[in-house]
Amino acid sequence: MWRGCPVPFAMYTVPKLTDYSAQALETAAADCVRACADEAAGVRNEAELKAFRDRWMGRKNGVLTQINDLWLKAAPKDAKREAGRRVNQIKAHVEDILLKAEFLRLELATGTPLRSGRVDISLPGIRRPIGAEHPVLRTSRELVAVFQKLGYSVADGPVVETDYYNFESLNFPPNHPARDTQDTLFIAGQQAKPPRERLLLRTHTSPVQIRTMEKMRPPIRIVIPGTVHRNDPPDASHSPMFYQIEGLAVDTNITFGDLKGTLDHAMKEFFGSRVKTSFRPSFFPFTEPSAEMFVSCFICGGSGKRGTDNAPCRPCKQTGWIEILGCGMVDPNVFEFVKDNGYDPKKVSGFAFGMGADRIALLKYGVDDLQLFFQGDVRFLRQFS
Ligand code: DAH
Repeated sequence: MWRGCPVPFAMYTVPKLTDYSAQALETAAADCVRACADEAAGVRNEAELKAFRDRWMGRKNGVLTQINDLWLKAAPKDAKREAGRRVNQIKAHVEDILLKAEFLRLELATGTPLRSGRVDISLPGIRRPIGAEHPVLRTSRELVAVFQKLGYSVADGPVVETDYYNFESLNFPPNHPARDTQDTLFIAGQQAKPPRERLLLRTHTSPVQIRTMEKMRPPIRIVIPGTVHRNDPPDASHSPMFYQIEGLAVDTNITFGDLKGTLDHAMKEFFGSRVKTSFRPSFFPFTEPSAEMFVSCFICGGSGKRGTDNAPCRPCKQTGWIEILGCGMVDPNVFEFVKDNGYDPKKVSGFAFGMGADRIALLKYGVDDLQLFFQGDVRFLRQFS
């Protein structure tokens, strides 16, 4: 596309001015800008663009510099103001022309017409909205950070796991209901393998306990954030994929008191120093004793009622307590699987815990439908930015 002047033109040279009247300055400026536009129209490639830029904007002897010297510096005192104004105008025009020449060069180089061959540089640019961290990942990261401050390091493991790590080494008996196809999503076509090698989508982050103990000798303190899967149809409080955060501390003489103190501290860090914790007996195959930990409801302050009209508090179902996680002392049977790596159940003890990051995010942000976290609706997510 040749957009240049069809007849060869003489290169513009900056004239010396003798007449500094407003009229004369205007004519001189118009000549100059026209010349600049004509030359710009002839630019076709990177080299010509550079030559053009140097010729007009070059610091030492570019046309603009010459104009500054010949028109402005040389102007008699009473014409300085007007000359200055004109020179500034010329500068702005030349910069504008250069920008357009750059766009045109881009069009030629890429073969892509930017708005039908002309660029309207006055149009607003394309907005790139700044993203924000997803509320579930944010919750997970904040919880992990609480434990990192206590000296825990972060561990992870595979989402596609074997039956051995997901169940067997965690002391699940062979016919435990959690292994049932009702709960676990198995990878198809594994029947030929011995049961413990069969692949499945991990149903919890607990297998990373064993995997880490196989690699690292005691003492250890780890947190494990990650995704898990269960064969649950999606509804307001279930999802086939969700997020957990697991923890494990093993050392000599770890007691249930350490478990309670650590988790109580972590909850106060995360929810605020006013929350209390309560531990109630429970059962998990891999911990003994096991407990469920509740925190006092941070929405109603533990009263079960909200506001001045004493409306029932829904998140805690009016009990004043919200269940947050499962925990317990690592079952000696679990240590047996990693005994050779320094985990002799007679010498070491430990505690473990596991919680759902999605559930905690629901509670923390007062969201009433878990599915909102997975739908990617910007109108919902924008509220967390
Ligand atoms: N893995 C359990 C679950 O998904 C949660 C859990 C409970 C993890 C107790 C633990 C624990 O480490 O000690 O339901």
